[in-house]
Amino acid sequence: MGLKIKYLQEVDSTQTMAAEMVKKGEEEGTVIIAEQQTDGRGRLGRKWFSPPGTGIWMSMILKPQIPLQFIHQLTLLISVAICRVIKRMLDVDVGIKWPNDLYINGKKVCGILLESSAEDERVKHVIAGVGISVNLLQKDIPEDLKDKMTSLCIETGIKCNREELLISLFKEWEELYMLYLSEGFAPIRILWEALSICLHCPIQVHTHQGIVKGKAYGMDEMGALMIRDEEGKEHKIYSGDVSLTLV
Ligand code: BTN
Repeated sequence: MGLKIKYLQEVDSTQTMAAEMVKKGEEEGTVIIAEQQTDGRGRLGRKWFSPPGTGIWMSMILKPQIPLQFIHQLTLLISVAICRVIKRMLDVDVGIKWPNDLYINGKKVCGILLESSAEDERVKHVIAGVGISVNLLQKDIPEDLKDKMTSLCIETGIKCNREELLISLFKEWEELYMLYLSEGFAPIRILWEALSICLHCPIQVHTHQGIVKGKAYGMDEMGALMIRDEEGKEHKIYSGDVSLTLV
């Protein structure tokens, strides 16, 4: 997949901009990257803190030929790709908190937002938004986020070259995407399980049906998190609009 990179100093949200471009017929492989977002968006209607020059704020347009029910597998794939690159480049203990957040030392360092459209139960387009806090300093983190978020620089003491990180990220992402298209989700699932920080720990998941408390014991072949609740009942939960807390 050839990439077409559009680099901007400032935008409200790379995600919103990518969506507008898709409406005008933009092809797969376009990536919008911004130095700063003035209205960055997170999952579940949250805001995404995206100050200038400190992070990777980007959205990639994808048009995978897959059924809609497989779409959450792409999020898992992207989180695996980012996690592997950060681990390799910075030798830091980063892990995936289901469904798609990356954590270091109990604080979030990266979030992924997948937005898509479908027709006849098949995916038409996906906009994969990625926010990685790279060189943010502790003093720059807003008070209300101080105990929740961190950056690669805070955790490693290394000012990271964002271009190098991006290049490695695109390469890893593409390799895993090709693997996924040729071999399906099975190899991604194995990689995800090895990087997960929420397997076998007490967790609480907020779903549309209510709260499930228990322990996750694996991921099924479709990408659902398998949880055994406190009564021993088994649940399969897909990412959708859910949130998970480590308790
Ligand atoms: C989350 O964890 O809530 C997802 C955060 C996704 C943030 C990225 S930054 C680039 C892209 N543009 C946005 O407005 N959001 C995503």
